[in-house]
Amino acid sequence: MKNIVVLVSGSGTNLQRIIDCTESGEIPDAKIALVVADRECFGLQRAEKHGIPSHLIRKGKEFSSKLTQLVPADTDLVVLAGFLSILNTDFCEKFSGKIINIHPALLPKFGGKGMWGNHVHEAVLNAGETESGATVHLVTAGIDEGDIILQKSFAVSEDETPESLAEKVHSIEYEIFPKAINKVLGR
Ligand code: GRF
Repeated sequence: MKNIVVLVSGSGTNLQRIIDCTESGEIPDAKIALVVADRECFGLQRAEKHGIPSHLIRKGKEFSSKLTQLVPADTDLVVLAGFLSILNTDFCEKFSGKIINIHPALLPKFGGKGMWGNHVHEAVLNAGETESGATVHLVTAGIDEGDIILQKSFAVSEDETPESLAEKVHSIEYEIFPKAINKVLGR
């Protein structure tokens, strides 16, 4: 049984997808051992509803050191599922190769500082991109710079808005995130 820790900051629909996949066996022999949020958010309630231990560490300078103390050493994978804080180098090195993030665009384009949520979708539209998508990648100390594990794209339509893009990206995320998790866990 592999132990997964999920970090969230928001609504947590990707967290929900991962919960559902561990329960259904789509992500086999794995359990979410812990959910950690850096702010009050609906993701924490999703964890509670499924009897998953959850913890709030408020965002700020101490976040990563407190997280390092909290995350069990036998953790096989740390999954960032709509998580907005930047993890420090110590944490990234301790769990090197075992931290993944989902990004709502086709990295290496539209990544880096400030590129989150609707900022990403607005930038994609402003740049006149003909396609967008989602990327699951390894987390290193550099923002959105780790190796790409899985990526999927779709065509941007003429009448696209940031909101319509977000919706399309989310459905792609629900598809590729469990696959990427299985891949990293060697399944
Ligand atoms: C996703 O689009 C993800 O790519 C980004 O934040 C969003 C989180 O959505 N990092 P949700 O909270 O899982 O619904």
